[in-house]
Amino acid sequence: MRQMTLFETIRRLRDTHRLTAAGYETLLLCDDPVAEEVLRGQARAAALESFGRGIYVRGLVEIGNICRNDCFYCGIRASNSKVCRYTLTADEILGCCRRGYATGLRTFVLQGGENPAQFSGKSEMLPGGVAEQSAATGVEWLEDLVRRIKAECPECAVTLSLGEMSAAQYRALKAAGADRYLLRHETRNAEHYRFLHPAQMSQQRRLQCLSDLRAAGFQTGAGMMVGSPGQTIGNLVEDLLFLQEFRPEMIGTGPFVHHPDTPFAGCPDGSVELTLKLISILRLMDPHALIPATTALSTLAPDGRARGILAGANVVMPNLSPATVRGKYSLYEGKACTGAESAEGLDALRSELAAIGCEISPSRGDWRG
Ligand code: 5AD
Repeated sequence: MRQMTLFETIRRLRDTHRLTAAGYETLLLCDDPVAEEVLRGQARAAALESFGRGIYVRGLVEIGNICRNDCFYCGIRASNSKVCRYTLTADEILGCCRRGYATGLRTFVLQGGENPAQFSGKSEMLPGGVAEQSAATGVEWLEDLVRRIKAECPECAVTLSLGEMSAAQYRALKAAGADRYLLRHETRNAEHYRFLHPAQMSQQRRLQCLSDLRAAGFQTGAGMMVGSPGQTIGNLVEDLLFLQEFRPEMIGTGPFVHHPDTPFAGCPDGSVELTLKLISILRLMDPHALIPATTALSTLAPDGRARGILAGANVVMPNLSPATVRGKYSLYEGKACTGAESAEGLDALRSELAAIGCEISPSRGDWRG
């Protein structure tokens, strides 16, 4: 009887791509191994139908770890004085993309802390530069960088993951040629958002940024951590209802992983199993969404990438940053960045994918609904 309700809920999600709050709660709380197996199987089948056996690969370049924000969970938060801060130069970033392009990568994800000085190319505000500033976008350096990447790697897509900006800045970056933008909403619950972030940060602004990104024409990515401190199943239900309405082209979700030099140092890591279940639910909610098997998942489970794909994910993001800075982009403890998590490890990734009947897709991997 209970199993029948579960099967019925899974079928409804598969066929209509939506559920009520109660439906999502039923799936998240379910611990029936047979139903869980069915959910996973249906999600994998949906991914196969949308994408075939091809997995999209994105080269991740961590362009800098200086951040004006102070998110309580994140290792590169502004108040962590133990981090060795760095910013890559445009030439260094281009070099990473060039190497990646030569190995066949067709999407580059530029990710970094929120650092307006880097993005504008002005490390200091010019004295008396108000007039000049009002005409400027404040992201000139980034615009130029995107143009250069597009010119050197003509077939590639550029994804940005650089945090909150103004609508005008997002439009400028889109006009410069950027294709996609990742900005996780982190949690849809207002109280939980305040628990994870200092008072200066605003959930309303985060949500406004997501709609600005969409209005600017970006393929837009949202998502949440699983098992972040204070999170309830009810919060995850709210996340799912939000994603079901907003329908982002990309959905990134990975387990919370504690970082020793943050206020959440002593908090337990998120659950790998629950993350996998969420990937399956998200896949059935949106058969065409671009859903990565995230680095955080691989960090907590050695076979996390393969299990993520078998649960419905269709994207992997190996690290393309220069080896010298990888250790410094420490969002959480033990962050994976070698082997099949690295761009040097594309052969390892290839065989890992082959072992589960998948292959690297040679395409850019744009969203196609
Ligand atoms: N554990 C897991 N994910 C984290 N992120 C930041 N800190 C952590 C952490 N401690 C995620 C956030 C952010 C993305 C770039 O990394 O969701 O949006």
